[in-house]
Amino acid sequence: MEDIVTACSSSVTHFAVLIISCLGFVVTLNHLISLVTRISNSCLRSEKDLTRTYGSWAVVTGATDGIGKAFACQLARRGLNLVLVSRSFEKLETVAGEIRAEYPGSHVRVVEVDFSGGEVCEGLRRVEEVIGGLDVGILINNVGITYPGAMFFHEVEEKVWRNIVRVNIEGTTRMTKVVLPGMLRRKKGAIVNIGSGASVVVPSHPLFTVYAATKAYVDQLSRSLYMEYGQCGIHVQCQVPLYVATNMVSRVACIERDSLFVPTAEGYARAAIRRIGYEARCTPYWAHSIQWYFARLIPDPLLDAWRFSIAMHRRKSQPKLN
Ligand SMILES: NC(=O)c1ccc[n+]([C@@H]2O[C@H](COP(=O)([O-])OP(=O)(O)OC[C@H]3O[C@@H](n4cnc5c(N)ncnc54)[C@H](OP(=O)(O)O)[C@@H]3O)[C@@H](O)[C@H]2O)c1
Repeated sequence: MEDIVTACSSSVTHFAVLIISCLGFVVTLNHLISLVTRISNSCLRSEKDLTRTYGSWAVVTGATDGIGKAFACQLARRGLNLVLVSRSFEKLETVAGEIRAEYPGSHVRVVEVDFSGGEVCEGLRRVEEVIGGLDVGILINNVGITYPGAMFFHEVEEKVWRNIVRVNIEGTTRMTKVVLPGMLRRKKGAIVNIGSGASVVVPSHPLFTVYAATKAYVDQLSRSLYMEYGQCGIHVQCQVPLYVATNMVSRVACIERDSLFVPTAEGYARAAIRRIGYEARCTPYWAHSIQWYFARLIPDPLLDAWRFSIAMHRRKSQPKLN
């Protein structure tokens, strides 16, 4: 009798070990496939011929600096004509001049719109006027702003959070509304909305809460539009950058230069253009993709605590804001 009990318990143990090993194998395989897919999507997949696939004009918002300016240059390099949208006419003219000088084949028009200002409707009417009759195939909804520094929600002045909502949420939504009808008529187009790792890669982004929340809106807007308009030949995508070395990041994260995990705006834009027309949501830069992969392995409470301690450290070291 004792032998039978021992034999039974040993076969139960063997069975349990077998099940756990199988599960371990499946989980490891799953992670490996996900890692390899991320890297190959970032590095190996071929770039779409943007003019042929979508049209010869692209509209870029927030085009006078950082990621937006880099996108504009990369698009011009590929032979696209550009409508640059930003708030300062002088800066727009300077960037347009630089692009015309470097890519003489590319036509560049500029429209001044302050997405946080009271005359945004008038600005958008000017965008409509300029793009009327143009074969606008691509919209890079890049414009975005954040807090001047790390701060608790109750400390954020009304003007600051309202501007963030206006620029990040309303700006992205309004520009999509302006450009979409033409794309629908032509039955083709690509809309790239610039989200942020702040709302996707980490479970929270304390002390930059309103910024992260507006980027969660951009993410959901993009996903749902991807489903609504995919069948009409319009590809909507949310790109999720982590840190990119721009003025914004130097202001809020004290990152002054590029490094392995922090690309230049040009490096980001080069990678970003390769992803246009593929998945609904992506993080184009290879090193960001790896960071996202490892972040997924860390339990949310740990990531939350880590983000909070970083934000508190920043708050202590930044100059006093009020
Ligand atoms: N840099 C990062 O690490 C990072 C990470 C994740 C997501 N993102 C997102 O990427 C996008 C671009 O960020 P960035 O780092 O390139 O920013 P940036 O260097 O600060 O450039 C922002 C651009 O937007 C324009 N802009 C700002 N406020 C505007 C307004 N009210 N109306 C019209 N245009 C306005 C700026 O024009 P002016 O030149 O006149 O100021 C500038 O051209 C944003 O949506 C941001 O949230 C950035």
